[in-house]
Amino acid sequence: MTSPHDVVLSVDSITKDFRLRRGAEGRGGTTSHRAVDGVSFNLQRGEILGLAGGSGSGKTTLARCIIRLVEPDSGSVLLDGSDVLSLKGKELRRMRRRIQMVFQDPYSSLNPRLSIGSAILEVGRVHSRPGADDGDQFVREMLDRVQLSPALALRMPRELSGGQRQRVAIARALAAGPDVLIADEAVSALDVSVQAQLLNLFSNLRDELGLSIIFVAHQLAVLASIADRVAVMSAGELVELGTTKDVFQSPQHDYTKALLDAHPRADPTQRIDPR
Ligand SMILES: Nc1ncnc2c1ncn2[C@@H]1O[C@H](COP(=O)(O)OP(=O)(O)OP(=O)(O)O)[C@@H](O)[C@H]1O
Ligand SMILES: [Mg+2]
Repeated sequence: MTSPHDVVLSVDSITKDFRLRRGAEGRGGTTSHRAVDGVSFNLQRGEILGLAGGSGSGKTTLARCIIRLVEPDSGSVLLDGSDVLSLKGKELRRMRRRIQMVFQDPYSSLNPRLSIGSAILEVGRVHSRPGADDGDQFVREMLDRVQLSPALALRMPRELSGGQRQRVAIARALAAGPDVLIADEAVSALDVSVQAQLLNLFSNLRDELGLSIIFVAHQLAVLASIADRVAVMSAGELVELGTTKDVFQSPQHDYTKALLDAHPRADPTQRIDPR
């Protein structure tokens, strides 16, 4: 386990309100909905932090606030001690390289007209990654990290299975050379056996590259085998945060208990990589 002081990402009191139009055609004025409500947590270097919570609890909005795809209304995000929310221009782009996101549907992030190899290389070149000049070697290396054959470089996204496509999405994220990976429901659309392989892959990437990962999932069960700690969101708030073992064995919040009761088979002692 990493030293408790080795914090890579520090999220403090993040709040995000969405303004919504009331009534038909917005004639009733506006109302506001608090999607994220004062969320704070630290991510340790090399840690996998699971983030669970029901649909609409604010997980994706929180993730988007962290990388500033959405501007939070208040709070702070520190990446290695520097304030992410005040960055502009070049500095903002540099931060975006260091925190990469992988989404549930790789179709949305993969250009259907670009071969797998070109898609990976594009990211490496945009961020001037070492080795990206030698395209073939760079692509081979990224495919190797996600355990895909180099032969797939020439294929198009539609020619891959869902699991392979998600591996390509991960390879693209890795091509940027990130320190932090945020996987938002990255395995949720896949069947159980492919899910297990991908969880294994995330775990290996943490071990081999020292990546720090926020792993978002509806179901706590998915997190049991992979997360070091688990956070639970409900209605925009972080209601529970603890080691995976503690949260599964003695959940404090009623909402966490309800989530656990919904998936009673989860067992954090059956870890992929006992540490
Ligand atoms: N762009 C937006 N405009 C208005 N409301 C939004 C917007 N994005 C999200 N919301 C609302 O914010 C709340 C949190 O949504 P969010 O997508 O963050 O939840 P989630 O936990 O990721 O859900 P899921 O598990 O279904 O992915 C929801 O009530 C949602 O309707
Ligand atoms: Mg979501």
